[in-house]
Amino acid sequence: MGLNCAIDGPSGAGKSTIAKELARRLGFVYVDTGALYRSIGYYAVSKGADTASADEIVPLLGDISVELKYVDGAQRVMLNGEDVSDKIRTPEISMAASNVSAIPAVRDFLLNLQRDIAGKNDIIMDGRDIGTVILPSAEVKVFMTASPEERARRRYEELKAKGQDVNYDDILSDINQRDYNDSHRETAPLKKADDAIELDTTSMSIDEVVGAIEKLITAEQRKESAPFRTIPAFRRWFYAVLRFIVWIGFSIVFNLKYEGTENLPEHGSVILAGNHRTWFDPILIAIRVKFISAYMAKAELFDHFPLNVIIKAVHGFPTRRNSADVSALTRAENMIRNGYNLTIFPEGTRSKDGKIGRAKSGVAFIASKCGVPVYPVGISFKSKLHFRSKITVRFGKPISPAELHINSMSKADLRAAGELIMSNIAGLVDEDA
Ligand code: DC
Repeated sequence: MGLNCAIDGPSGAGKSTIAKELARRLGFVYVDTGALYRSIGYYAVSKGADTASADEIVPLLGDISVELKYVDGAQRVMLNGEDVSDKIRTPEISMAASNVSAIPAVRDFLLNLQRDIAGKNDIIMDGRDIGTVILPSAEVKVFMTASPEERARRRYEELKAKGQDVNYDDILSDINQRDYNDSHRETAPLKKADDAIELDTTSMSIDEVVGAIEKLITAEQRKESAPFRTIPAFRRWFYAVLRFIVWIGFSIVFNLKYEGTENLPEHGSVILAGNHRTWFDPILIAIRVKFISAYMAKAELFDHFPLNVIIKAVHGFPTRRNSADVSALTRAENMIRNGYNLTIFPEGTRSKDGKIGRAKSGVAFIASKCGVPVYPVGISFKSKLHFRSKITVRFGKPISPAELHINSMSKADLRAAGELIMSNIAGLVDEDA
């Protein structure tokens, strides 16, 4: 069983654009169910049938076989073996699809196909009745809307960009007509599921909508993976006070600049991965992150008193570099499962000149094993540090476990994931800070 995300809403609300981008980011399969109704509408039109007449459409169903195929991650609709994916995108077929979709036998005909796909994969499925009828137990349900005028404007731009000769008023009246049809039909009308989250995208950017739904999905993924505990309140309070004091101290000594703080994690049990410039990088990161972190530190540091006591007190634990230190990896996993973040410097060693090195495989391994996101952090400053030096700490957008594309924990997968993490970090570092 995969994780199912249902996105319903009226025509032109941006469902398919959003669903495609989400699927790409999360490594999910995108299922555009409108294309199924369109293919039946297309078949009916090609046979000269009246698409609004159940008597004419139902007998045709016996001659139709519809299948979804995925080519390079993109959905293709096969109608009786023919790829009709592009032919079904005309205004005429849009209306035909809306008409045939009101026929209960057509909806029944497509029901199992949709459920079968959902049962096998992590999917983002968009349509009109996904959250209400097709996948009533989908873990994430979104009802996406936008004003008819905004939806017509988007469709107009989209069709014009494809070189089609279109008229805004025609599109608007088409949208109003389809809204009416889709929400007034008797079988599975367009309506919000009781447990769906409503998103009005009229004045939201694509990135904002994708980000909002991605958060819902990753929260669900966290729930599904092994249980994560919460750190007891007294420890969190003590930590908050300590963090504040250290923040003031560091702000006196350095000219600290924090950027990208809108990307800061909203809960514990994530990985923070930064480039490594100074011994106090962990502190620079911890100052702005509300949640307590554990740290991997090189084993040599634990040989010296009182450093060993201090590092242990801030949840540092030893790792032997240049070897796969299984006990350190297990420790890291346990800390994350106990509600701690893990702050890690994937290069394993400090960079003297600020150049970004390669990642060791540990970070990708832990992220994938625990199923937690990696938050990249870039630390930048000009060569030598002195009193009041400017230090910029920049937080980037989280990389979800799915984006790391680790299927087998093979060396190649871990290396590729490590490279992705390092390139995200590199993008946050100023070359000449
Ligand atoms: O999302 P779309 O515009 O490609 O959908 C075409 C038509 O198909 C739409 O007018 C309503 C219908 N449809 C439906 O009834 N149920 C779905 N799950 C998806 C689409």
